[in-house]
Amino acid sequence: MEQTLIMIKPDGVQRGLVGEIIGRFEKKGFYLKGLKFMTVDRAFAEKHYADLSAKPFFNGLVDYIVSGPVVAMIWEGKGVVSTGRKLIGATNPLESAPGTIRGDYAIDIGRNVIHGSDSVDSAQKEKDLWFPEGINWWRPSQHSWIY
Ligand code: PPS
Repeated sequence: MEQTLIMIKPDGVQRGLVGEIIGRFEKKGFYLKGLKFMTVDRAFAEKHYADLSAKPFFNGLVDYIVSGPVVAMIWEGKGVVSTGRKLIGATNPLESAPGTIRGDYAIDIGRNVIHGSDSVDSAQKEKDLWFPEGINWWRPSQHSWIY
């Protein structure tokens, strides 16, 4: 089953949006497989955003991610990578549709609350980075609507 890496950024944590964001993914029907509350250092943030190292905003993005605790999660479900990105909304919150997380809770691209893997391949790499120990979690198989 498809999985994605979702990370609530320092502004999302500090603004008390963790429960709201988790609720949106849960209510959609996705399944929480892993969760960590953690602070990352620059080397870790630079690795996570390595593909963006040539971008002019790279250092600012790294400063932002190391500025406070984040919540890293693995969510599972059919189409969770692309549908997770739909729940999150467009990268620039001013272009995110109302009803999406960024559309409802953010204004600035440099404070856009949440990250979600942009492809199945990225999700695998990001899961390996954020959860190197892997996940081992029980699934309530008696509920046929959770699959
Ligand atoms: S790009 O330029 O197309 O590669 O960018 P994009 O794929 O839209 O976004 C990749 C991540 O970079 C963040 N981003 C920015 N941060 C700060 N300032 C500016 N101007 C900026 N532009 C893009 C964006 O939020 C993405 O981070 P994540 O954590 O994946 O959402």
